[in-house]
Amino acid sequence: MKILFTASEAVPYAASGGLADVVGSLPKAIQAAGHECCVVIPLYKSISPELREKMTFVKNITVDVSWRKQYCGIFEAEWGDITYYFIDNEYYFSRDGLYGFYDDCERFVFFDRAVLEMLRYIDFKPDVIHCNDWQTALIPVYYNIYYKYQQGYDGIKNVFTIHNIEYQGKYGKEILNEVMGIPMYNANILEYDGYINMMKGAIESADMITTVSPSYAWEILDPWYAHGLDRILVTKQYKLKGILNGIDTEIYSPEKDTAIAGNYTADDFSGKAACKKALIEEMGLEPGDEPIIGIVTRFVNHKGIDLIRCAMEEIIGMGIKFAVLGSGERIYEEFFREMAARYKGRVALTLGFVPELSRRIYAGSDMFLMPSQSEPCGLAQLIAMRYGTAPIVRETGGLRDTVRDNGGIDGNGYTFKTYNANDMLDAIRRAKRDYDNKSAWSELMKRAMNCDYSWKASAELYIETYKELKEQ
Ligand code: GLC
Repeated sequence: MKILFTASEAVPYAASGGLADVVGSLPKAIQAAGHECCVVIPLYKSISPELREKMTFVKNITVDVSWRKQYCGIFEAEWGDITYYFIDNEYYFSRDGLYGFYDDCERFVFFDRAVLEMLRYIDFKPDVIHCNDWQTALIPVYYNIYYKYQQGYDGIKNVFTIHNIEYQGKYGKEILNEVMGIPMYNANILEYDGYINMMKGAIESADMITTVSPSYAWEILDPWYAHGLDRILVTKQYKLKGILNGIDTEIYSPEKDTAIAGNYTADDFSGKAACKKALIEEMGLEPGDEPIIGIVTRFVNHKGIDLIRCAMEEIIGMGIKFAVLGSGERIYEEFFREMAARYKGRVALTLGFVPELSRRIYAGSDMFLMPSQSEPCGLAQLIAMRYGTAPIVRETGGLRDTVRDNGGIDGNGYTFKTYNANDMLDAIRRAKRDYDNKSAWSELMKRAMNCDYSWKASAELYIETYKELKEQ
């Protein structure tokens, strides 16, 4: 089979979150299983000159954005065994940052149409177009309205994956005709709760909706998690499934990682001590053997930072240190800044997104805290476990599906159920108690490192899904 992946970001070209990791690694795994994959993303300004140098120009075409005719350049590059295509238009994509602009809707309307138009000119006729999140949600919509009866487009199946239901692409109704170029008689596909909702359009139009963990697939049928989309999802359950994300175990490998101070494996993790020592020095923590909790996250509400705010001083009082990396909402940045100032040597903070430092935190910490309110899958806990760092997580979404509470015997981390700071504290206390028992802790680390976080099993589930669709 031939699968075209499309998204607004993909490692190594453009990344702001877990979506980029998935789009950068899942196609590889599917291709390794004997299918042909391509990826298409926008040609952003931030793509480095070294990566640009390796691109070749394919063609330029004109793409309709409602009544506008917009220039679209198509570029191509190989990364590993995968062909990447890039959609170029400097007006839309030559900006600082990936999203957050007043015209994001128009930018991705353009991108989505460009992806479909591009298929006429490249040497790749997909069996399946696999779309990801709201930025590519109009592809199944346009396919059904405009493309499926055109020559060369028949029989393509659309899969839409929800990585985070919070971001839906919701706009006023005027956008439908003026920007999307969709006639009023098709409004019902996109209309929802008085808005035009791009994700709702994909939920209606895609042949299969997937999300990134089995638990999240049923959580989003509940209003607490669904940000309004539960009603439509309940009616589309027959085509909804959850498939757990994997990570690129070549990139995230304590054995081979060159960004960390010492390499190690599940059989010999003496190198991890060197990583801890180096992290303490790099981030300016007090030396000593007390456990370090790593936090690498975007500072946004659903990551559960409010729980950390309630309990952080108490955790510090237990003799635990923090290595924090992230950025986001100002109120949280200020909170961590204040903690780092008040507890110098106990709380270390770097604001921003520094991939290399993040790996040194995964490797150098003892525990990794993710008390998310909701978590579609979460990759950080998988990476932490791969580096022998015990995750402490709330039982939600992919966290629930990947972390088993140690309970003193056979888990790979620590979990708590309710969104409550005391329950989180209890999990941290249990982790600290186990940490103080060195042989029990080594066993736990070993169990965490020995879990399989690769894409292998999940890639098979995606392939089965594509096959099922092809046979329909
Ligand atoms: C989003 C989700 C995260 C998931 C990632 C990749 O960032 O918030 O939970 O792991 O997408 O699917």
